[in-house]
Amino acid sequence: QMMYDALLGAVMFGVPGGDGPWQGVKFLCPVPGYDRHFAICERLGIEMIPVEMLDDGPDMDAVEALVAEDASIKGIWCVPKYSNPTGAVYSDLTVDRLAAMKCAAPDFRIMWDNAYVVHHLTGDIASVKNIQKAAEAAGNGDRILTFVSTSKISLAGGGVAAMSASKTNIDDQLERMFFSSIGPDKINQLRHVRFFKDTAGVAAHMVKHAEIIAPKFAVVEKALTAAFEGTDLASWTKPEGGYFVSVDLADGCAAETVKLCAEAGVKLTASGACFPYGNDPRDRNIRLAPTMPTVDELERAMEVFCTTAKMVCLQKVAD
Ligand SMILES: Cc1ncc(COP(=O)(O)O)c(C=O)c1O
Repeated sequence: QMMYDALLGAVMFGVPGGDGPWQGVKFLCPVPGYDRHFAICERLGIEMIPVEMLDDGPDMDAVEALVAEDASIKGIWCVPKYSNPTGAVYSDLTVDRLAAMKCAAPDFRIMWDNAYVVHHLTGDIASVKNIQKAAEAAGNGDRILTFVSTSKISLAGGGVAAMSASKTNIDDQLERMFFSSIGPDKINQLRHVRFFKDTAGVAAHMVKHAEIIAPKFAVVEKALTAAFEGTDLASWTKPEGGYFVSVDLADGCAAETVKLCAEAGVKLTASGACFPYGNDPRDRNIRLAPTMPTVDELERAMEVFCTTAKMVCLQKVAD
């Protein structure tokens, strides 16, 4: 909601450093990415330009070339740590390049959605360089809008969310929030403070989450390895945090696999969901979200998924 409000405000009123409301503007969207980011853009009439997501963040050569020459490109979506859906972690170099790159738009914004900032699956905790500080050092302090929430820390639908940015951006946001809300749910904020106490309290809590969900990721990895290792029918990510595994099947096989799985009782994220306008040009990507089912349910679901995906891919290869 905070991200939606921030962009709605930009479209309605503009942002500091710009010359008015964002009309006829574009956003860069690393793909595969988060469907709800893309839905916000689509809803607000912001045209989306896909850029490839690599292991250490978006393809920065492509990003830098695009933002340097087109002033209608006003921003980029980023999930810097354990990205949705690939689990990629942005490297320091990627952070520095995003913070310092030359943008034709003076009011360019990086939507830094740190949704998985403390959501580690292993003891090997990734750290991402502070982009706000890097942007300030490069003279671009107003470029970054950072968002976090406790949806997947305390309670989905009952968490708290936060935004951090330069004083100029926060003042701008507060000025607009004045009209949309009397104030936040302070009792819920207090509940969170009393429960977690401090950063160490959050970290200790996330270890317990990892104990619950890491075995589920292990089920997914084991099933995919058993079904596809040594074949060229599928490749998949091995995230060290976050909530998803991103699977790439042979081209042209994702939609059919999702459809057949649904018929067999296994509901997956819609094919194409991780791409702007729901359009996966190669129809190959499927996002697996293994956190909710029990280990037993997940084992059965993965059996259905792997069998189905293999069948669809083999048929495609044979055609
Ligand atoms: C990258 C990312 N941002 C935001 C969210 C949603 O956050 P919230 O529940 O706080 O709206 C999700 C949930 O899947 C997500 O993956």
